[in-house]
Amino acid sequence: MRRLLPGPAVEDVDPYEAYGDAPGLRIGMVMSADGSVTDAEGWTDGLGGAADFRVFRTLRALADAILVGAATARTGRLGPARLRADLRARRGAPPAPIVVVSRSLDLDWTLPLFTEAETPTIVVTSRRARDRVPPGIPVVAAGEDDVDLPEAVRVLREDHGHERLLCEGGPALATALIRASLVDELCLNIAPALLGSPRHTRMLGALDAEVPVEPASVYLDEGVLFIRYRLRT
Ligand SMILES: NC(=O)c1ccc[n+]([C@@H]2O[C@H](COP(=O)([O-])OP(=O)(O)OC[C@H]3O[C@@H](n4cnc5c(N)ncnc54)[C@H](OP(=O)(O)O)[C@@H]3O)[C@@H](O)[C@H]2O)c1
Repeated sequence: MRRLLPGPAVEDVDPYEAYGDAPGLRIGMVMSADGSVTDAEGWTDGLGGAADFRVFRTLRALADAILVGAATARTGRLGPARLRADLRARRGAPPAPIVVVSRSLDLDWTLPLFTEAETPTIVVTSRRARDRVPPGIPVVAAGEDDVDLPEAVRVLREDHGHERLLCEGGPALATALIRASLVDELCLNIAPALLGSPRHTRMLGALDAEVPVEPASVYLDEGVLFIRYRLRT
């Protein structure tokens, strides 16, 4: 991985160091050069390849908890958090829990995501819905009738000690977090491909106003552009 900004580095950089200064809440997502966040199968594996996956794994290893929207969990493709031996050694701790955010709780509780996680997967939902989460699955109930994301983030930090949060998407959750001004950084990986079809999903939904971002650093690896945008909300 080569650093282009700030000041091009001559030597390759180590992703774990390049992304090591994790802020409070970062979004980490991959998209095609024309803004699609899903491949032809509605998933992400066909987007960024090995270079993207290295940064994806690194962001996970640097997080205390990994937030995902329920629709991403409903694809059935999201396994429990795992850590490769080298990243586990650097992290010095078990994998961060996946945190599934859901109002409806329309989730398949028999998925390995819930049954086989070394660090149990947490569910964030409203207080009204919380009793519908099967026993044994840790729950953060935030908000009475609807999920209150600022409260959920506060509880994850204060009661669970999860300071450094990573949101892996999808677009609906990422948009809601940005709208709630909870996001410090967007780590956007841009794959070298144009997908073009309207079948594909865009990275974000509607925002009330433009959110200015500042590219803090830019890297290039195997054709994938990695941009760390600081949000100035
Ligand atoms: N390229 C990438 O980096 C990337 C990353 C992740 C996912 N994806 C792709 O994105 C697609 C899914 O994205 P998506 O935008 O449809 O859905 P999503 O963000 O994964 O999940 C949406 C669901 O999350 C819950 N949710 C979102 N915001 C909420 C809020 N403010 N309060 C409470 N619950 C909230 C709701 O769950 P309930 O419906 O259960 O109430 C909502 O329906 C998949 O195709 C996946 O492959 C791409």
